[in-house]
Amino acid sequence: ILAGVLFDLDGVITDTAELHYKAWKELADELGIPFDQAYNEKLKGVDRMSSLRLILQNSDRKFTFEEMEELANRKNERYRELLTTLTPEALLPGVRKLLKALRREGIRTAVASASRNAPTVIEKLGVADLFDYVADAGAVALQKPDAEIFLKAAEGLGVHPLRCIGIEDAEAGVMSIHRAGMPAVGIGTPETLPDADHHVSGPGELTPALLREWMKQFP
Ligand code: BG6
Ligand code: MG
Repeated sequence: ILAGVLFDLDGVITDTAELHYKAWKELADELGIPFDQAYNEKLKGVDRMSSLRLILQNSDRKFTFEEMEELANRKNERYRELLTTLTPEALLPGVRKLLKALRREGIRTAVASASRNAPTVIEKLGVADLFDYVADAGAVALQKPDAEIFLKAAEGLGVHPLRCIGIEDAEAGVMSIHRAGMPAVGIGTPETLPDADHHVSGPGELTPALLREWMKQFP
C-alpha cells in the first residue's frame, strides 16, 4: 500500500539544471577550464563538491581543499543569485495538481534532493506548504547513489520505506531509490534511465492511482 511519495527536486519538480549550469559555467570560464552542456549532464543529481571535482578533473592544475571550498562557495553564491529569479512559473506542468491530489488521498510527500538549496527552491516555487517533509541534504553522509537521502525522507514522513515510491530524473538517483528498497519512477526514457521501473516524460503524467498501481506491481 502506497503511503509516501518521495520527489527528487532538480529535473522532477522544476528545471533548475540550466541555473546550476550557468553558475558552474561562469566559474569554469574564470578558471579557464573547458565546460559545456554535454559535460553538465554528468553533474545531474550529483552533490556540490562532487560536481566541482568533476569539473576540476579537466584542469591541468591541482587545487587544495581550501581552494575547492572557496570555489564551491562561489558557485553557490552565484546559483543563489540566479534563484532569486525563480517563480511558480518554473514549476514543471502538473506538479501542483499532483501534490494536491496526493494530499487529498492521504498520501504523504517529501523532497529527497541532493541540493542544500531545496528549501529555498520550493519556497520560491510556491509549493513548500504542499510537501510534508524536506530531507536535509546537508545532513547526509552518503550522497546518491547511496540510499541515505531517500531513507531519511521516508523517516521524516514517519512512513516505512517499503511503503514509499521515489521519482527521479538522474541515474544516480534511481540507484539511490532502489537501494532504499523502493520502486523508481523515471522522468525520462528507458534510454536515459535504463534502471527505472516506469517512465514518464514529466510529473504531469502521474496520478495517485497510477503510483498506487506501480507500488502494487513492485516485488
Ligand atoms: C542536485 C542537482 O539536485 O543538487 C545538482 O541535480 C546539484 O546539479 C546538487 O549539484 C547540489 O545542489 P546544491 O544546491 O546543494 O549545490
Ligand atoms: Mg534531479
